[in-house]
Amino acid sequence: MAGRIPESFINDLLGRVDIVDVIGPCVQLRKSGRNHKGLCPFHDEKTPSFNVNEDRQTFHCFGCEAHGTAIRFLMDFDNQTFPEAIETLASMVGMEVPREAFRGPKPDTELYDVLGAAAREFQRWLRGGEGTAAVAYLRERGLSGEVARDFGIGLAPEGWDRLKTALASYREQKLVDAGLLVRQEGGSRTYDRFRERIVFPIRNTRGRVIGFGGRVYGDGQPKYINSPETEVFRKGRELYGLYEARRAQRGLQSVVVVEGYMDVVALAQHGVANAVATLGTAIGQSHFETLYRHVNLVVCCFDGDDAGRGAAWKAVDAAFPALSETRQLKFVFLPEGEDPDTIIRDQGQEHFRALLDDAVPVGEYFLDHLRQGLDLDQADGRALLAELAAPHIRRLPQGALQDVLVNDLAARAGLDATAIARSARATLEPNHGRRRAETSRATQGLTIGNKPLLKYVVQYPQLIDGMDPTVRAGLADPADLSLLADVVRHLVEEPGMNTGTLIGCFVGRAGYDD
Ligand code: UTP
Ligand code: MN
Repeated sequence: MAGRIPESFINDLLGRVDIVDVIGPCVQLRKSGRNHKGLCPFHDEKTPSFNVNEDRQTFHCFGCEAHGTAIRFLMDFDNQTFPEAIETLASMVGMEVPREAFRGPKPDTELYDVLGAAAREFQRWLRGGEGTAAVAYLRERGLSGEVARDFGIGLAPEGWDRLKTALASYREQKLVDAGLLVRQEGGSRTYDRFRERIVFPIRNTRGRVIGFGGRVYGDGQPKYINSPETEVFRKGRELYGLYEARRAQRGLQSVVVVEGYMDVVALAQHGVANAVATLGTAIGQSHFETLYRHVNLVVCCFDGDDAGRGAAWKAVDAAFPALSETRQLKFVFLPEGEDPDTIIRDQGQEHFRALLDDAVPVGEYFLDHLRQGLDLDQADGRALLAELAAPHIRRLPQGALQDVLVNDLAARAGLDATAIARSARATLEPNHGRRRAETSRATQGLTIGNKPLLKYVVQYPQLIDGMDPTVRAGLADPADLSLLADVVRHLVEEPGMNTGTLIGCFVGRAGYDD
């Protein structure tokens, strides 16, 4: 691989090419002044919000916020790598790309190389003699060889140094940096992270392998292990299956977010090729930002269990900042004990598509969730609904979607929409204590604001009803509560303390002995 491209050349190049010549052949542009407008190639739209600015030599979409220079356009529109994009532009204006030959390739590139080589080894092992049991497992789970190939599924064989040996031509430290080898604590020895597991390569949207997930196929714990965070693998942003989904469907419109690797692959097997999953982490704001750069509709379809339902509620707050009238979010709730993999295998593609068609829009789910346990026939209950909703609603960008939600909430809560909007804004600005108190009074005098424990109890009053009477008495006693707060703080600061150590810390303290 050739050396680095000097920064000065890139600036020079960008000064010579005209971005309109680059984008013009790909997007139909209409000139208006120094601006050119067209239908955005990065999201689906009917009225043009894609702008190319000749003066600034940049593009910007007001719909999906895609923007950048000619280089970025070639990378995103044409899936070119950075050096490829530079080459393309240079050839347009007849320039030769110089390379700083004395410098080696950037560390990133080498990590990608190592990870790509590992993926090839894993795939080779799955196809070889050692792969029999793993292949049988995949078949039993209904996967065809074709889908396994599309996803690049492989096998990490038994043994502690199989990959290490196979990739001996790379520097050992690179394999550690890539998350493929684990360095023994305090020691110099390294060994394979993935052993006797089916491995799912995780690829970024350009198709480069950035990490792996590995599943046991016999006995063993834990069920899955994942690559650690590395320079090229950021779990908070990356989604398993996004590359494959984009490859399978040109002009991808929507994605289904599921919890597991197997869900993604099983859905693809049954003709639903647009599923993605987070990587053993909860879905966060950056995941949604990534997703909405590519599609306008995200449907969350988590497991039908407490964890899955909890994940759905968390997704609301994570998504809110990224939503708009055009960027939609919906939810599918599966029957208890099912996940997308079991559902589509048992019921088939059509049934699953019907579930997607009936997905609940985020606004509806949001209000239904918050109103659980509240009596909206009572003024208190309605006021509480507004209070509970406010801190979430303020996470939404101001605009039509926020208005719709506020109006909806107002209708349900029997309150005035402007009061609710004001209350949402007041929680946004913590300094406006006075105004906040006023708006609270406007919502019938109940101030919960930012008191999570109180909020929780008010939202789920049945918690207290069902509680052991002695514990309940403690919760109603301020002295008990203040000591509890200290203990909790202690536990937060030093997680993992057991009863003995805790008692050691608090014994003798006023209030403890009684
Ligand atoms: P699940 O346990 O729901 O797995 O974990 P699954 O996808 O249904 O897998 P199968 O059907 O049993 O094969 C969902 C996701 O949570 C992460 C993985 O990313 C997994 O895909 N996970 C789960 C872990 O990281 N570690 C574990 O031990 C378990
Ligand atoms: Mn499963």
